[in-house]
Amino acid sequence: MSKDREFYLRRLHSLLGIIPVGLFLTQHLIINHFATKGAEAFNGATHFMESLPFLIFLEIFVIYLPLMFHAFYGIYIAFTAKNNPKNFGTLRNYLFILQRFTGIFLVVFIAWHVFETRFQVAIGAKEVNFNMMVDILSNPWMLGFYIVGVISATFHLANGIWSFLVSWGITQSPKSQQVATYVTLAIFLALSVVGVQALLAFV
Ligand code: HEM
Repeated sequence: MSKDREFYLRRLHSLLGIIPVGLFLTQHLIINHFATKGAEAFNGATHFMESLPFLIFLEIFVIYLPLMFHAFYGIYIAFTAKNNPKNFGTLRNYLFILQRFTGIFLVVFIAWHVFETRFQVAIGAKEVNFNMMVDILSNPWMLGFYIVGVISATFHLANGIWSFLVSWGITQSPKSQQVATYVTLAIFLALSVVGVQALLAFV
């Protein structure tokens, strides 16, 4: 691949990780959090999302296509990146590797999650509501799988924001990168609490 082409593809991959995929993940976790206020609040929030006009186009262009590009190009990056923690051994190196591992795990988790929820609904086998999630999460293995999936996604997004800021030249000095570490750590913790609290509300 030519260097120019690779540069633009990397930029596109990076941008799509934030807009729209990262924004979608954040709103998805916030909507799910309505579950902590009870079945009625959760069902109301999901029905509002389902009533948006042109839902299928929104889903295809704002969620599926950007996510698929980010995921497929992400797999390519993950398998071609040079991971060398032995040479550096810094926290950043381990986070860099974890970024790739969580990305690959997310391919499996998201594929399963879309199959189990969106696809089953599309073929009329299920209806999205509070009880559907209660059913799914009544299996302790599934609950564990979903908790690991949600934490992988929040880590991947938060650590991704850190590397996005570096790739786009926004945090260039060591000081600004250190501040970004604290800010993204706070984002990771906040989103993880919101995501895991929502899951536990179905149990
Ligand atoms: C919940 C869904 C996901 C979100 C919110 C997300 C978000 C992000 C963000 C914001 C970045 C940082 C971009 C940058 O470094 O400039 C990133 C990087 C990355 N993502 Fe994702 N991503 C998701 C799913 C995936 C999946 C399924 C894969 C598949 C392997 C993946 C692989 C990668 C890789 C390898 C990087 C590092 C790119 C690099 O260092 O240049 N991501 N992601």
